[in-house]
Amino acid sequence: MKILIIGNGGREFALALRLKADNNDIFIAPGNAASNAIAKNINIQNFNELALWAKNEGIDLCVVGPENALDAGVVDIFKEQGLAIFGPSKAAAKLESSKTFMKDFLAKNNIRTAAFLNTHDYSHACEFIDEIFAKNASKVVIKADGLCAGKGVIIANNADEAKMATKDMLNGQSFGDAGKRVVIEEFLDGFELSFFAICDGENFLSLPVAQDHKKLLDGDMGPNTGGMGAYAPSMLASSDLILRVENEILRPSLEGMKRDGTPFCGVLFIGLMIVDNEPFVLEYNVRFGDPECEVLMPLIGGDFGEILLKAANGELENIKLNGRFAVGVVMASKDYPYKSSQAQIISIDNKELSVNEATSYNTNDCHICFAGVSQINGKLAANGGRVLVCVGLGDSIEKAQAKAYELAKKISFTGAQYRKDIAYQALR
Ligand code: AMP
Ligand code: GLY
Repeated sequence: MKILIIGNGGREFALALRLKADNNDIFIAPGNAASNAIAKNINIQNFNELALWAKNEGIDLCVVGPENALDAGVVDIFKEQGLAIFGPSKAAAKLESSKTFMKDFLAKNNIRTAAFLNTHDYSHACEFIDEIFAKNASKVVIKADGLCAGKGVIIANNADEAKMATKDMLNGQSFGDAGKRVVIEEFLDGFELSFFAICDGENFLSLPVAQDHKKLLDGDMGPNTGGMGAYAPSMLASSDLILRVENEILRPSLEGMKRDGTPFCGVLFIGLMIVDNEPFVLEYNVRFGDPECEVLMPLIGGDFGEILLKAANGELENIKLNGRFAVGVVMASKDYPYKSSQAQIISIDNKELSVNEATSYNTNDCHICFAGVSQINGKLAANGGRVLVCVGLGDSIEKAQAKAYELAKKISFTGAQYRKDIAYQALR
């Protein structure tokens, strides 16, 4: 098949690696400086033009990486041209693009989530914040309604802090229009899991449960990031818990979306908080997680492109797993997540890496997914943000972790930083 992947990060690199393994021809729009080594980068930004290009090129399937493209309606645009595309419509993508929509949907369908208030009214918000602290809560969570690239969530330690954050959101100061409605919600104290299912509008296939590491520093300290590493499958998800998530969350979610006339086709990524063995929905995302995608792709057997095509056509079939374990360690630039950094040449084993060598260090038990990279005179450079993910594989988390860190130690660029404890919750 000819497959077009939309996006430019490590997630899309991982999708490309996996889909190429089944002998598909891969195109990535726009891709990054490393993805040309495994696919053909297509530099068309406008989705109407991209759909026309895809039609002319005879693309058999399009797979969408990032939420912004979904929120912009790329799936609707491609479908109008009669193209097969795996991802939710703009209307279904609202599960991620509006947190107030998401919370109302959860409440309407009786799906367990933190107690909350949706509002655009400051005094109403303050009353709810006071109510929460009156019940002896230690914290409260304030969320901007719209997409904020993972930054629109504030965890406040007291009512004053919470009210200040709410005020800054509502008057547009902190997140512009995205913050003009907010969700105020009860703080949940537990552990987080990332649950992924491939959906065709009606049926689903669950993928191995992953765990992300959102904090910058070891031991889950420091500021929140887009994710500093992940592993799967997580033994923190018992088979009983997985069944409960499927029956109490996933099924009612798909049924609710179908009933509302916006059936969900694509990857439903449920951000879970497990509190005393009870799964609560923190959020839905309507796409693969990054870096979760990087650890999930190498665990999927069979012809993955066929599975996604069937899902896109509403005819989902079984998925095979290969029984392996994966750990992904994110290497980020010096000033991540605070500000962008100057481009720095990437070396492996002290040798500068050229753009066409992006996959030359890959083996059966480790590989690199490139994300924030550019090129300088034909060499690959760390371009700021999350630069790459070292993925290790094995027949246990221990072995996969060892392989990931073996690889990470060989890679260097000025200012590189990474966590040394990815998968610690699975190993203690
Ligand atoms: P979200 O974008 O809603 O997933 O929030 C980002 C992160 O904030 C989550 O991954 C959690 O670590 C944290 N978070 C969000 N909501 C809550 C909550 N109700 N209780 C505790 N932590 C939360
Ligand atoms: N790793 C979390 C996300 O992609 O949103």
